[in-house]
Amino acid sequence: MASPKYASLDGEIVAWNDARVHIASAGFKFGTGVFEGLRGYWNADAKEMYLFRMAEHMKRLEFSQRFMRFDEIITAETVTEKTIELVQANSFKGENLHIMTTAYVSGMGGPGVCGPVGLAITVQERPRSDRVIGGVTAQVSSWMRVPDNAMPMRVKCNANYNNGRLATVQAVADGYDTAIFLNSRGKVSEGPGMCFFMVRDGVPITPSVTSDILESITRETVLEMIEEVFGVKPVERDVDRSELMAADEAFFCGTAWEVTPVLGIDRVNIGDGAIGPMTKRLQDAFFAVCDGSSGTHAEWRLPIYGTAATVKAAE
Ligand SMILES: Cc1ncc(COP(=O)(O)O)c(C=O)c1O
Repeated sequence: MASPKYASLDGEIVAWNDARVHIASAGFKFGTGVFEGLRGYWNADAKEMYLFRMAEHMKRLEFSQRFMRFDEIITAETVTEKTIELVQANSFKGENLHIMTTAYVSGMGGPGVCGPVGLAITVQERPRSDRVIGGVTAQVSSWMRVPDNAMPMRVKCNANYNNGRLATVQAVADGYDTAIFLNSRGKVSEGPGMCFFMVRDGVPITPSVTSDILESITRETVLEMIEEVFGVKPVERDVDRSELMAADEAFFCGTAWEVTPVLGIDRVNIGDGAIGPMTKRLQDAFFAVCDGSSGTHAEWRLPIYGTAATVKAAE
């Protein structure tokens, strides 16, 4: 897929190839940055692009910056305005988007440097992948999820993602699509970049937020939607590894993974090795909420072209 025309760097719209940071910056050297991955959903009938749960992502971005003790906090309002400006500048219409908003330490020095803080935003077209629709296989990783008192996954810090990288690379080398982490207590945690749900006897179950997971916005969305769609209260609790083999259905969820069926774990089929009925219903309902075709939960969608934002599309 061709590169977009523009990126946004430190508040300015710049040509894609000019979006560079210095190699001596802490952001580059130590991964001293925090980020949010978001999605834009195109609705062809409304001819509108919706950013999904922007406010919640921006709240988390502010939290991550505060947690990492950045000298200055780039506010939700600034990042939202600059993101809308960039989508409009690229005139993205007709396809779903993946957006990365990163607040990074542009200052030079060691890992303790706290500023100045820059803002980098990229937006790229990202159609829904076949694996989201068709499902994936997973390996219970021999890599442990980093514990909260070492590198908290609750904070969306760039450097954390090398833990997920090790598990992903190992899983793919071993013939799986992705990985499931256990945490330092030996309980199921999450995937490298997504949360995990399983269904047992009609009840969706997911590891609690004290399982060394990111407090995922999609997880929250799914927890709410499960009650709406099935009239069943989902359960948040510790999940044992052995329960994975007892699951009738399983799925991952996250901004990038949306609702992705898990077909097998450690070469054992989940259910009959195809997408489960509850997962399928939930997936359909989730897609319809994201692009607005369900007409429900308008509060979760920020329209880009009908927005009251004052920013102008660049020519
Ligand atoms: C480690 C991790 N867990 C879970 C998720 C899902 O979080 P969200 O639904 O907020 O995108 C992500 C990001 O997508 C992630 O990076």
